[in-house]
Amino acid sequence: MLFKQQALLRQKLFVLGSLAIGSLLYLVARVGSLDRLQPLCPIDGRFGPRGQDEIPLRALQFKRGLLHEFRKGNATKEQIRLHNLVQQLPKAIIIGVRKGGTRALLEMLNLHPAVVKASQEIHFFDNDENYAKGIEWYRKKMPFSYPHQITIEKSPAYFITEEVPERIYKMNSSIKLLIIVREPTTRAISDYTQVLEGKERKNKTYYKFEKLAIDPNTCEVNTKYKAVRTSIYTKHLERWLKYFPIEQFHIVDGDRLITEPLPELQLVEKFLNLPPRISQYNLYFNATRGFYCLRFNIVFNKCLAGSKGRIHPEVDSSVITKLRKFFHPFNQKFYQITGRTFNWP
Ligand code: A3P
Repeated sequence: MLFKQQALLRQKLFVLGSLAIGSLLYLVARVGSLDRLQPLCPIDGRFGPRGQDEIPLRALQFKRGLLHEFRKGNATKEQIRLHNLVQQLPKAIIIGVRKGGTRALLEMLNLHPAVVKASQEIHFFDNDENYAKGIEWYRKKMPFSYPHQITIEKSPAYFITEEVPERIYKMNSSIKLLIIVREPTTRAISDYTQVLEGKERKNKTYYKFEKLAIDPNTCEVNTKYKAVRTSIYTKHLERWLKYFPIEQFHIVDGDRLITEPLPELQLVEKFLNLPPRISQYNLYFNATRGFYCLRFNIVFNKCLAGSKGRIHPEVDSSVITKLRKFFHPFNQKFYQITGRTFNWP
């Protein structure tokens, strides 16, 4: 009996030992392979002469850890100075569109070792009060980063706010601009769902989507309704094009980012002149959430908050048809301007 128990214990110890050694070997192999990857390539000629931009990924990952510690208040000012960490103005901005998947895009881009995200929406360019505080105020809102990294922020209100293109142009006329779009009717319903949830949280009643989207007097689409106006992408884009050439924009397919994020992210990496570093390893489908979630490394992964991916209310099919018909010519123009065609009805 005792002999049997001892044998069982030995067997268990053997399995545990093998698992531990296996994990250790995997980690060593992985860190080794990360260091063998290509050096980072320049964005807008911002990287220094050859050699200066050859940062081993392990060093970048160490910096990430340090940034994290600093955010938690555990790293000292001395460490920040020693590691040459800086707060940089963004090299790229996700300017919209609200409910297009802006948070998912920012979080997924942040998987790239050369990208550092501004976690909060800063609302510098669309909010007059913030804008009056000046560019240094804006820079100080940026996260600490290594000089060779790029900072990205997202504030979806930028896309639809009149004054923003000129203000961004004044800060940096060669900035890269990302716009993530979804099928316009779905986006409008998503927009409505967010507002509805806010009202319900405050125990307030709200109109049905149908009532807001269709003008009861004319029975036509209500173009005064903000959720409808925001989905007329071409109208907003045309305002931006008075300041920036189309080459400075990249359009992300928000519907595809939901179902198949990697190819969309690879297009963004290319647009930002970043080496391809985000891989399938970093993205896994979480069946409970019904969305892709992020895997940073063997221990750290996360899904987006529950407020992303709400269940939309059912909308009358005749209203959906009317909206789709309404958006159709604007969509055609949008495809024409951007050179990116979607299968929107
Ligand atoms: P819904 O809530 O309508 O489903 P934004 O961040 O711009 O507010 O966009 C929110 C939308 O991002 C969500 O809209 C959701 O569909 C979409 N999304 C895309 N990828 C996602 C992901 N991996 N996890 C959660 N939501 C995601």
